Amino acid sequence: MQFSYDHSGSSKTQLTSVAKRLLPYIRRVKTVAKTCDYQALESSVVLPSDEKLVRNVTRVVREKVTKGLKYIIVVGIGGSNLGAKAVYDALFGYFDTVTPQRLLKILWVDTVDATFLTHLSTLLKSVKNRNEVLVVIISKSGTTTETIVDAEIVLQKIALDRAVVITDEGSKLWDRAGKLGITRLSVPEKVGGRYSVFSAVGLFPLAAGGIDIKALLAGARRARELCLSENLLKNPAAASAAALFLANRNGKSIHDIFIFEPALESVGKWYRQLVGESLGKECNRVGKVVHAGITPTISIGSIDLHSVGQLYLGGPQDKITTFVSVEHGQEIKIPKQQLFPELVEGIGGRSTRHIMSAILSGVKIAYRKRKLPFVDITLPDVSAESLGELLQFKMLEVMYLGHLLNVNAFDQPNVELYKQETRKILKP
Ligand code: PA5
Repeated sequence: MQFSYDHSGSSKTQLTSVAKRLLPYIRRVKTVAKTCDYQALESSVVLPSDEKLVRNVTRVVREKVTKGLKYIIVVGIGGSNLGAKAVYDALFGYFDTVTPQRLLKILWVDTVDATFLTHLSTLLKSVKNRNEVLVVIISKSGTTTETIVDAEIVLQKIALDRAVVITDEGSKLWDRAGKLGITRLSVPEKVGGRYSVFSAVGLFPLAAGGIDIKALLAGARRARELCLSENLLKNPAAASAAALFLANRNGKSIHDIFIFEPALESVGKWYRQLVGESLGKECNRVGKVVHAGITPTISIGSIDLHSVGQLYLGGPQDKITTFVSVEHGQEIKIPKQQLFPELVEGIGGRSTRHIMSAILSGVKIAYRKRKLPFVDITLPDVSAESLGELLQFKMLEVMYLGHLLNVNAFDQPNVELYKQETRKILKP
């Protein structure tokens, strides 16, 4: 992975001076990783090297992923599904509509929308053999309304030995699933939903869906090492956090992640939740009302240039952008003998990847001309390993941003508020 902040709008001196403020915190997180401290708020950094966790996940995968499995139905919302969905969609899911014959597919259930659930029920009714379906219910708290509603509906339709529950050990869901004899995997207590992709929450559905979780974790370990480095401007998470923090202080209240690889759209959605919930806070760490936050948006290149390109280039200058692109991937060539040779010049015989890269270069030149700040991330490819690297880099970046903004990046008091109010309304 390559990272560049040459056009972030801040000088190296400014970036260094902000990044230096992170040093004591980086050292603390490094200690958490080294000592495998699962009691720390930052304990998600321990996950990529937790071998016992991989063994547990693999054991349950062996037990449940039987011959003939066609669909894994993941019931969960927010931090409980976005990480695994990001990885699955990048490798398979984005292509599912054009590869209808490819099985095994993961289906994501995170809505109480009746039309969606009716279609899902029809699909479940069409299943001939019980081993064709595996249901994974994921809820850290075990009490999220949407997840429990969906679990009730889906579990009516399958045998309970075709289900796995992933939740906090000791939650009400954990206890009830135990009484029902449903296989359970736990989430470490201090690892919050949005940081949980490398726990059983992400690893189990991904491994069951045939994704190489060892490669994913190897990528995460590589990023962890890089992003805990004290060589601050070579540390992508520290440099990126410094660039985003400085931009925010200069009135850029929006961070747009502009991804020039459509299959990574769900990575953008995962990141949006990570930034939104971790940094959007009413109070700072000493309880003062600050209404802090950076508003995360996702754009997909080149599609969204045709919807929001005008706004970005001509509208309010309130954004910093992270461009994400991929170096190597499949190539498809435009025929040399074109049917419409006079319409767009210079495309005959060229690969679509070349065209995409020309568009991205054009966009960056336009951004530079308009003095719009941006940073760049280039992934070598779309593989489990590169995705692991990217996700770990971003989780550390957000922890560092939380530190710079002086907010608790690990709680979500206002989300809890709406959850409690919903439960009060529903209570008989
Ligand atoms: O990141 C978070 O903490 C949240 O997005 C939760 O993951 C989400 O609200 C779902 O909660 P739970 O996993 O408890 O069902």
